[in-house]
Amino acid sequence: MKFFIDTANIDEIREAHSMGMVDGVTTNPSLIAKEGRDFEDIIKEICQIVDGPISAEVISTDTEGMIKEARNLAKIHDNIVVKIPMIVDGLKATRRLSEEGIKTNVTLAFSPLQALMAAKAGANYISPFIGRLDDLSQEGLLLVEQIVEIYSNYAFDTEIIVASIRNPLHVLESALMGADIATIPFSVLGKLAAHPMTDKGLKAFLDDWEKTKK
Ligand code: E4P
Repeated sequence: MKFFIDTANIDEIREAHSMGMVDGVTTNPSLIAKEGRDFEDIIKEICQIVDGPISAEVISTDTEGMIKEARNLAKIHDNIVVKIPMIVDGLKATRRLSEEGIKTNVTLAFSPLQALMAAKAGANYISPFIGRLDDLSQEGLLLVEQIVEIYSNYAFDTEIIVASIRNPLHVLESALMGADIATIPFSVLGKLAAHPMTDKGLKAFLDDWEKTKK
């Protein structure tokens, strides 16, 4: 499973990258806004750090506007993947961008049929938002399971980026289902590595080592 980091914060990206845990980065307008810096400057800086797919999202909601923005974003770096919202105009833009060879990540997917349509439109990636479904008492991971099955039934190349991840179980279950990618917030990445028995065991080893010096 590939790990993307779901942040626009440069310090978080550098830290996760130094752990060898960053195969790509996803951003969205809210994450960019949190940084209080110019959008393109942030995306350019991320591209200098990470050699992998970097998702940058369009703001337009009409097909022509999305295509225009996408072309500009794609010029920033070869690794740019343009995030397109899962609306009808977005599907039209995805199809046209796919013909132009511009990579797309169809975002804000909340149903398996949306994921099927995105794949048919030629999306390179689909982003099901599982945490936001859980927030509505709907099972986010069930959505991942259904998309994995549909894409496998019809051998679509579209990669599944499990998004809106809130906890380590989301990552574990997605990996067991065979989702291609988890895009993980920095706070959750740290939790994946942690185990109290590791800390307890390490403390015991170090305490015992101290005894050899007496
Ligand atoms: C994915 O690409 C999105 O940036 C992200 O996962 C949204 O997650 P949220 O529901 O925590 O905002």
